[in-house]
Amino acid sequence: MCRRAVVHHAHNSDGQPQRGASHDRQQFCTDIMEARSAGSVSKFMLERKSLGGVSAMMIRRQIMWAASVCAIVLCMQVSIQSVGAEPVLASSLGSCKPVPVLKGAPLHCCLPEPKRAPIRFKFPRIPRTSSGRPILRERKPAHVLSKDPEYVRKYNLAYERMKALPDTDPRSFYSQWRVHCSFCNEAFQQRKTPGPLGPETGVLLQVHYSWTFLPWHRMYLYYHERILASLINDPTFALPFWNWDNQLDKDAAKMPAMFFPDFGVPNAALFDEFRNSNHFPPKILYLGYNSKLEAEGQQNLTDQQIKYENLCVMYNQVTTKVSARDFLGGPYVVGTDNSAATVNVSAGEVPGESGGMESVHNVAHEWTGLINDPDHPDNEDMGNFIFAARDPIFYTHHSNVDRLWDVWKTLPDKITKSGHRKRMDYNSRDFLDSEFTFFDENQDMVIVKVRDSLNSAKLGVKYTDVSESDNLWINYEPMPAQESSKTCNASDYPKPSPHGDNYIGTDPVSFKLDRRAPTNKDCQEKGLSNVDELQENVVLEKVKIPHADYARFDMFINYPAAHRQSHLYMAEYVGTFTHLPSGMVDMSNSVSETSSESEKYRIVTIRYSVNAALKRLGITDYNTDIVVTIVSKGKRNSSPKSGFEFSDLKQDFQ
Ligand code: C2O
Repeated sequence: MCRRAVVHHAHNSDGQPQRGASHDRQQFCTDIMEARSAGSVSKFMLERKSLGGVSAMMIRRQIMWAASVCAIVLCMQVSIQSVGAEPVLASSLGSCKPVPVLKGAPLHCCLPEPKRAPIRFKFPRIPRTSSGRPILRERKPAHVLSKDPEYVRKYNLAYERMKALPDTDPRSFYSQWRVHCSFCNEAFQQRKTPGPLGPETGVLLQVHYSWTFLPWHRMYLYYHERILASLINDPTFALPFWNWDNQLDKDAAKMPAMFFPDFGVPNAALFDEFRNSNHFPPKILYLGYNSKLEAEGQQNLTDQQIKYENLCVMYNQVTTKVSARDFLGGPYVVGTDNSAATVNVSAGEVPGESGGMESVHNVAHEWTGLINDPDHPDNEDMGNFIFAARDPIFYTHHSNVDRLWDVWKTLPDKITKSGHRKRMDYNSRDFLDSEFTFFDENQDMVIVKVRDSLNSAKLGVKYTDVSESDNLWINYEPMPAQESSKTCNASDYPKPSPHGDNYIGTDPVSFKLDRRAPTNKDCQEKGLSNVDELQENVVLEKVKIPHADYARFDMFINYPAAHRQSHLYMAEYVGTFTHLPSGMVDMSNSVSETSSESEKYRIVTIRYSVNAALKRLGITDYNTDIVVTIVSKGKRNSSPKSGFEFSDLKQDFQ
């Protein structure tokens, strides 16, 4: 059965053999069989069989066609998270505070002033073929481009020239990484009125931990790529994408070869000295990765097991997340400082809330940077948002993140009870009118809104179709639930304390979660017409995380025996939250200029999407309470006693 699936995969719609040896696929099938000691192997294989490149492509086209036809109808029922607040407005002008790091003096990530008055964003003019088809820049997989010396030569040259520009030039590599360092580490303040010179609110800016994560990084890449292209006078130049979610092609999930020495063509501008050599090829990125377990020598999985867990993590972080909030993250509105522990929830402020995509993206950061190196407590480069963009690999990583946002929007629902909710971005004004500035290839400061970022094609960008490997996690199904999980008795476990003093310690913790049925009100608040379209969530409220710490919480339902080495391909696993150090205040030595107790922590909401897991566990009603187990895989420097405090554990609907 496995063999037939392989043959089917190896041909595209024209009946031509596709790139990538069928040997890889065959090996992968064998690997998977070995990885699973028991369970639904045959089901897994059946699924793979129905996922040929042909049908996958057609399905995606049909979905896109249906999307445009139904646009008007569907916009009536979008998941509108109407926060009734004002959009976040920000620019790189005005006050800019130094960013504290653990080792060394605070960094100035401030950006140069523009030479001319800032301009408004305009969509690029997109060239067309003689038959009128748009010619888009095609971002291709890095493992494929690593076999294209001509591309790597060009790519390297572009970075060489970018690195040769003076630091005062906003297009320089130095300025480019400072864009990330400043917007992602609370260097700037939010503004009161649109435009880069509006009065400042005094509230610090942070584009992670919310719905601005994907749009902001998309526009960052957009300008970064255009600058590279202009430096080599090649308007067709496109960034590669590091296809780390791809478990099918042998090299896809490794750090791409083009970033390493001995490449054959000059590529030194793509190197970075601050990468974890333990994870160099042939190691593949492990999305279940935990630096602490690795340091303890307890993370010894085979490649087959890693691939299998990776599929399950992707499934739980992308496929099962249907609502905008689950995938993109929570609202971020003016006046909210999601960088501090001072979020006033009763005054309507919303704590930081990463979406599923952001959490899984953090793993690649952690894995690539120098975590576990005592000489590098800042986990530079990739393992810390302050330094991450100093590694050229950063931009290929984000290119894949950006691609996955596009893929997410094309996925059929199949998760909520209705099974046919459309996945869409938020459409509230406070999301769409969020505003930032970037520098373009002409050194002009451009004012960009989130609404400008939502359609890749309008930005002149497309991604190579890798649906064959995407489909492995899109249509993935974890192993069947264990009988004991189906009959697990929730009343044997404590409810979270109503006084808010709950802890996630070094050992896994389990709680009973009371469930209720959704009401029409839940539905109306989201702009949906039917309760069956709702996404059911388990939410950890007001989790207190030190800025300087790495944290990871994996959640399991009805499996209180879960522990740090439980396999993530189990039916009971429902997803992962990860936090990377950023905007840090030195925890060991509170001399930092701004450090008050509350400023050392970030308060976040963590949302897990459980519809699919409940179904696997045979829980189809809303009367059955569940046991929620949180397995903490951080924090790096924690003493066994200390843990992460959180206020409550709740069911929610989106
Ligand atoms: Cu702003 Cu991958 O981070």
